[in-house]
Amino acid sequence: MIYRSLLFIVLFIFFGCSKTDSNTTTRAIITLKEGWKFQKGSHPNAISIGYDDTNWESVTVPHDWAIYGPFDKEIDKQDVAIVQNGETVATEKTGRTGALPYIGEAWYRNTFDIPNYNENKKVLILFEGAMSEPEVFINGKKIGEWKYGYAYFYFDISKHIKATNNTLAVKLNNNGLSSRWYPGAGLYRNVRVIVKNQENINQWGTFITTPNITDKIAQVNVKTNVTGDNLKLITTIFDANGKKVNSNETSTRFGNQFEQNIAVNNPVLWDTENPYQYTAVSKLYAGNILKDEVTTKFGIRDIKYDRESGFNLNGIPTKFKGVCLHHDLGPLGTAVNKSALRRQLKILKDMGVNAIRSSHNMPSFEQLELCDEMGFLFLAESFDEWKKTKVKNGYNLYFDDYAEKDVVNLVRATRNHPSIIMWSSGNEVPDQWGSEGVKRAKWLQDIFHREDPTRPVTVGMDQVKAVMESGFGAIMDIPGLNYRVHLYEDAYKRFPQGFILGSETASTVSSRGVYHFPVEKGSMVQHDDYQSSSYDLEYCSWSNLPEDDFILQDNKPWVLGEFVWTGFDYLGEPTPYDEVWPSRSSYFGINDLAGLPKDRYYLYRSRWNTKDKTLHILPHWNWEGREGKTTPVFVYTNYNSAELFLNGKSLGVQTKNNSSPQHRYRLMWMDVTYEPGTLKVIAFDDQGNPAAEKEIKTSGKPHQLVLEPDTSTIKANGEDIAFVTVSVVDKNGIPCPTATNQLKFKVDGKGVYRAACNGDATSLEMFHLPTMKLFSGKLVVLVQSTKETGNISLMVSGDGLQPAKVELKSVQ
Ligand code: GAL
Repeated sequence: MIYRSLLFIVLFIFFGCSKTDSNTTTRAIITLKEGWKFQKGSHPNAISIGYDDTNWESVTVPHDWAIYGPFDKEIDKQDVAIVQNGETVATEKTGRTGALPYIGEAWYRNTFDIPNYNENKKVLILFEGAMSEPEVFINGKKIGEWKYGYAYFYFDISKHIKATNNTLAVKLNNNGLSSRWYPGAGLYRNVRVIVKNQENINQWGTFITTPNITDKIAQVNVKTNVTGDNLKLITTIFDANGKKVNSNETSTRFGNQFEQNIAVNNPVLWDTENPYQYTAVSKLYAGNILKDEVTTKFGIRDIKYDRESGFNLNGIPTKFKGVCLHHDLGPLGTAVNKSALRRQLKILKDMGVNAIRSSHNMPSFEQLELCDEMGFLFLAESFDEWKKTKVKNGYNLYFDDYAEKDVVNLVRATRNHPSIIMWSSGNEVPDQWGSEGVKRAKWLQDIFHREDPTRPVTVGMDQVKAVMESGFGAIMDIPGLNYRVHLYEDAYKRFPQGFILGSETASTVSSRGVYHFPVEKGSMVQHDDYQSSSYDLEYCSWSNLPEDDFILQDNKPWVLGEFVWTGFDYLGEPTPYDEVWPSRSSYFGINDLAGLPKDRYYLYRSRWNTKDKTLHILPHWNWEGREGKTTPVFVYTNYNSAELFLNGKSLGVQTKNNSSPQHRYRLMWMDVTYEPGTLKVIAFDDQGNPAAEKEIKTSGKPHQLVLEPDTSTIKANGEDIAFVTVSVVDKNGIPCPTATNQLKFKVDGKGVYRAACNGDATSLEMFHLPTMKLFSGKLVVLVQSTKETGNISLMVSGDGLQPAKVELKSVQ
């Protein structure tokens, strides 16, 4: 949070590169985005000041070196039994980590200056994520190392720097067999140099809580850790319009900490509908001289977990309508990008999602800022592994030396985010077995409590019987169950807490726009095309269909809600096709890897988005060759009943009912006989009146490309991205849902082509090359800004198709 704070300081400077100077007297932040040199392989001499890196690749950071591929099945081919998937016999697996070349050593180099340098300056270097095993060298000397690629960490480099031309070298190393998904590679999150005075507010040293709230007044408690003598702290609170609300001055210090209680009258509370944030500006003086200044955004909100009413936000019982997210951003890999994260959250908001779980590691600061701003609840996780091994070179190698430090940094860096409502110390850790694991669970939970007494801790538990026996589940603040719907009741009875969280649910699999026949439920079903059916009836041997979770939440008031696996597809873990090639990304997503909604999106939307109506028909209606064959039709809607018509002929009314879990939440016409034409659904309100209708049509041949950008303007900051959905229609403008045309992309003007993605988990086309096939009639092109303002055009063409062009604007 202090990191966020730093971004807002009045005297703040934001260097695009390291060569700029400034006159700042309190603190400066140099964000090292540009000027980087990068090279794979081992380069021990690269630590030295005069090392010649002119032939190294020039890159900007955040950077993911492995996303440029190529995909190669040999990279992560493993003979392995995935124990947590219930396997006992080893088989050959491919694509588990995305089949991308993330393994090995690589180096980054850069130089930077220190504004207003003098020997008394306190200088830190902060890494918000470095994948992995970073070793950091400044001016030829090693100044520190870390291990976990997801950790935030910083070093004090005051003693190693000079005024200008400091040489920074970072060595990274990724081991094979170190992850269960695509971990990415490189300096994939920001690197910052922070320059302060000797008298200063410590890194992540501000902790703001709101322990007492009424309509009339809120207590804002501000604890500030500082360094220096004879100090005075003035903290001023501003509302969201920048209007001063209240202020407090103190020079009473306990140890290295100031504590202030500041009243906010008639507080506006932060919640998911109105994510209102206040700002605290902390000014540190020595005598009358301003020495440091930090700005911290925060929300006034109350969270409570109650055995009667579950989770309460500001006194209102609230179920988690959540999704789990891995950290990759599909075609961008793991290089953090705020516009890609914002787009994801917009899509999820429309679906009715109110909560995110950062599975299974520390979230990016950018994602947390967006969740604060857009109104999402956040479950911030730390580890997928403790001391017992899941993957040979996983966190088990570092647990003893790093677990406490990693948790401390996670909490201190992020605890002021109002969105965070729970911590998770682990996911399906094998330490669920045995008494040592119970001790570890308690040890970690106690660290979270010590660092943040305001939020509870969970672990995503899959070994439910074991944790019932051992006491592991009983000591958790919040018992989280991953899957195991059949054990919820038992766990509720056996555990003392009085509620159960669906920390991970569903793991239903599907491929956007692909449907298989006959339409039937099945576990670990494989099809010849290596795609899973979008009738949404296929799941994993350890998991279930969405409705099994809906039923628990609707029937059992003690279920706190759920976090579905996953909101978006991610690179790696191509279950149920991890034994066949090519398949290199997941099928679990409610949205595909390109961010395009699958049918399941509408199933969740019909339940979770209570403001807008949903009426969605599946499958598509282009079934040449299926004439006369049974082709079931499903409708996902929040209406209770609807009538289906094929070419004007009624196929009857369906009403939601309790005859099966699916009938309770979907409308299904199982015996429709396919004929091309128009499929139309009319939904009825509770009085039986027609309330909404929707139709889909059989299309002719692909004729014309259609481009739909998610925005018409982007910021000229070299990072902002417009996501352009490309589809193809026939000559009558009807979408062609099965088109697979090979397309080409060309960007002109003040933007660049960044990547494309079609959501096909079996595609081996590289995202950064300006050509790709449509998958189920669609793909998404990412156009990125440069630092110049002006017009940008994207031209998309394909053989035999009318090309299409879209104009965008890049603005200040
Ligand atoms: C869970 C695990 C996730 C993912 C998922 C796939 O058991 O926590 O990381 O592997 O299964 O269904």
